[in-house]
Amino acid sequence: MNDSIRFILNGEDISLSNLRPTETLLDFLRLKRRLTGTKEGCAEGDCGACTVLVGRLIDGGLHYESVNACIRFVGSLHATHVVTVEHLAAQNGTLHPVQQAMVDCHGSQCGFCTPGFVMSLYGLWLTTEKPGRAQIEKSLQGNLCRCTGYEPIVKAAEQVSEKRPSALFDPLEKTRADIIARLWAMQSADTITIAEGEDRLIVPGSVAALAQVLADEPKATVVAGSTDVGLWVTKQMRSLNPVVFINHLSDLQKITVEDTGLTIGAGVTYSRAFTAIAEKIPALAGLINRIGGEQVRNMGTIGGNIANGSPIGDSPPPLIALGATVKLRSVAGTRSLPLEDFFIDYGKQDRNPGEFVESVFVPYPAASAHFAVYKITKRRDEDITAVLGAFHLTLDDADKVADIRIAFGGMAGTPKRARTVEAELIGKPWMEATVTAVRAAFDADYKPLTDWRATAEYRQLTAKNLLIRFYLETSGASQELKRFEVLA
Ligand SMILES: Cc1cc2nc3c(=O)[nH]c(=O)nc-3n(C[C@H](O)[C@H](O)[C@H](O)COP(=O)(O)OP(=O)(O)OC[C@H]3O[C@@H](n4cnc5c(N)ncnc54)[C@H](O)[C@@H]3O)c2cc1C
Ligand code: FES
Ligand code: FES
Repeated sequence: MNDSIRFILNGEDISLSNLRPTETLLDFLRLKRRLTGTKEGCAEGDCGACTVLVGRLIDGGLHYESVNACIRFVGSLHATHVVTVEHLAAQNGTLHPVQQAMVDCHGSQCGFCTPGFVMSLYGLWLTTEKPGRAQIEKSLQGNLCRCTGYEPIVKAAEQVSEKRPSALFDPLEKTRADIIARLWAMQSADTITIAEGEDRLIVPGSVAALAQVLADEPKATVVAGSTDVGLWVTKQMRSLNPVVFINHLSDLQKITVEDTGLTIGAGVTYSRAFTAIAEKIPALAGLINRIGGEQVRNMGTIGGNIANGSPIGDSPPPLIALGATVKLRSVAGTRSLPLEDFFIDYGKQDRNPGEFVESVFVPYPAASAHFAVYKITKRRDEDITAVLGAFHLTLDDADKVADIRIAFGGMAGTPKRARTVEAELIGKPWMEATVTAVRAAFDADYKPLTDWRATAEYRQLTAKNLLIRFYLETSGASQELKRFEVLA
């Protein structure tokens, strides 16, 4: 039995045996360590003012990723290296090249967002030698600035990549071998339990230990990336007890590439999952840029996106359209079911007490099949879905619909297939008259709600129009799209 969370903060070893289960990294840094360079803006993962890097060992290598300290719990940091903005400048005060580029390019005005931008740019600088404009913009999607208009910050990113100094200057490159050795020494197969008063925080040492913990504590809150649970604490002020952290479990972080599809562990982050998926299913490559910001993508997991049962989670509809299956585990063993069957009703999933999501199997679409996913939001970047449609079509030799799977988010209390529309399309010629005629069938499949993201009417019309868009794209007639945009 182990009773402390150990990690490295900048250069210092930290060991905590008194810790609230939902203490955030931001509060720990600012209130307990007085590392006030890391700012609090929104406290919900949107603005990036709290960005820090967290390094962890993956397959023996040390990988640093930008994360939002405001919704990251300290209990999730065991055997990691936390790097804050205070670690960047040399001891004699010489700025890190990333910081100097922000000065040279006038990338800071009021300065409140600046440490967060510096850390995001630093994360990019560490991992990407010569980032293009699109990569720079993607890495900054999760950072908001109300003063600069962003152009000077993008210029700073370009400057620092052009005049890349020796890696020996960099504090993380200089200490990489030492940090790897220290993180290895912190890893252990023991379960960590910290009890403070009534509160308990548990970090299981293995997947088997997790199953046992959840058998003993079926009401415990599982926390993976905390991009949902973090907000329950910072925005809803909920107290959670006990909390079980699973983001460190390497068995939940495996991606297995098979002949027929990919198995993605529940603990795989969006960033890693979509990199692997995009290689095999290019039509899904663009969706990752539309999910959260870089920090949320580095934290949020595929398992969390499924387990939360949200009707507007972005991965379930395309995975359902592809015919994915989800695997659940408990002390009783494992069971698999079609992902669409996992979602029973709003807030209700087919998950027994003590079960957790272990992985999802994503079959590849056939080479001859057509597959597309469309996310509709008010804002292009970092916005939550109003409507998301995924289409997976197989035509026969006569261009008739042999098979079609359509799944939507934002149209019902769960991610849901359009079974009436599908049934009406099967066997019909794939032509404009067919898809126009079946538009009405969406009314049988979906009764969407009005909320502040979209009205019910907008959602229904958008779903119908997305079918037309899919038809036009698959039939090579996408120049015709404009004609349909005004269809009512
Ligand atoms: C700023 C911001 C932007 C966002 N943008 C998007 C977006 O564009 N698209 C989108 O889909 N989502 C978005 N989200 C929501 C969130 O990122 C996703 O839902 C994410 O996939 C949740 O995963 P997580 O690992 O962070 O889950 P957590 O917050 O750790 O957990 C979420 C829920 O799942 C449960 N859980 C987690 N893992 C398991 C498991 N393996 N087994 C059983 N239960 C489990 C937890 O108990 C909890 O109930 C955004 C969130 C934020 C903060
Ligand atoms: S404070 Fe805004 S993302 Fe953390
Ligand atoms: S410099 Fe003021 S918010 Fe960015």
